[in-house]
Amino acid sequence: MKIRYCVASLASAALLAAAPAQAQGQKLKVGLMLPYTGTYAALGIAIENGFRLYVDEQGGKLGGREIEYVKVDDESDPSKATDNVNKLIKRDEVDVLIGTVHSGVAVAMARAARQSNTLMINPNGGAGAITGALCAPNVFRSSFSNWQPAYAMGEVAAKRGHKTAMTITWKYAAGEESVNGFKEAFEKNGGKVLKDLTVPFPNLEFQALLTEIAAAKPDAVYTFFAGGGAVKFVKDYAAAGLNKTIPLYGAGFLTDGTLEAQGEAAQGLLTTLHYADGLNTPRDNAFRLAYAKAFKLQPDVYAVQGYDAAQMLGVGLKAVNGDVKKKAEIAAAIRKATIDSPRGKFTVSSSHNPVQDIYLRKVVGNENRLEGVAIKALADPGLGCKM
Ligand code: PHB
Repeated sequence: MKIRYCVASLASAALLAAAPAQAQGQKLKVGLMLPYTGTYAALGIAIENGFRLYVDEQGGKLGGREIEYVKVDDESDPSKATDNVNKLIKRDEVDVLIGTVHSGVAVAMARAARQSNTLMINPNGGAGAITGALCAPNVFRSSFSNWQPAYAMGEVAAKRGHKTAMTITWKYAAGEESVNGFKEAFEKNGGKVLKDLTVPFPNLEFQALLTEIAAAKPDAVYTFFAGGGAVKFVKDYAAAGLNKTIPLYGAGFLTDGTLEAQGEAAQGLLTTLHYADGLNTPRDNAFRLAYAKAFKLQPDVYAVQGYDAAQMLGVGLKAVNGDVKKKAEIAAAIRKATIDSPRGKFTVSSSHNPVQDIYLRKVVGNENRLEGVAIKALADPGLGCKM
């Protein structure tokens, strides 16, 4: 009896010891929760393309493990976000969550990731809370906070001599935080925001608000729109003749991945972002060539963020030989790393947001041509983050 017990326990000890090695032999399940329909559909596709490109460059493996993708279209709909992320966590039992674009949906994802201690890398959604009050050891961002490009543009606009501005955006976290970031820097540098105008997300009826801007005649207009909404807004602004009288500034999403559709209406626009065309570094040139070859498309900021989400995951998994359960070691490795991004090298802050250069760009033809660095190594303040 005693002997049998020993044999059984030896056998189970051997099984236990084999478990991690077995897990590492299994594919790593990556849950891609992104918009594949709606105004942000092109952004979701670019993020997935960028992610896959990096994985393919590593021979299809990260941390020694092959990748299996499970995809959910989140439709940029916050009301479906918790159900969608729980499908990935509970039904599909993914090892890591990658997503998403829309701030409201990304916040719901971050909450679920935090509660279930699932590793999450957010390749876009800029909501401050994700790397602020809701920050978590297992949640990282490869993109930006809404405050970062907006704050830089507030400084640029004030330094260009504008004294008054109006803002116009979608009424949800990304738009509101972007406008607040712009206002903070614009007013600190002597400007005054006269009025904030909003339309509900993802509404595209801008006409009444453009009429109000034309009547108020501010020195400048600041805006956050992205994807399909950015295309429509830039065209409507030009069609109303406002591009000839009131300079339009934006967070760079306004003109990223959109220029072919915006055409003439976008020419000359100045925006700020953590990526630009014409960086002309060996790293970016190689990335752009590989992306164009793989997808027959030019990359944009979203592609870069997807690519870097995969790089960050790769850094973390390498440190633990693919054992995704070792959350603390994965987090420590990403925290210590310098990510060799096409945008330029960056590190992540203590609240897990990129510390990065924000570029000033000007639309020339189909490019957001680099004009210079608006703010070097800008870190989000990470307000309210306690880890
Ligand atoms: C956001 O909702 O945080 C968001 C969406 C699209 C962008 C940037 C930010 O291009």
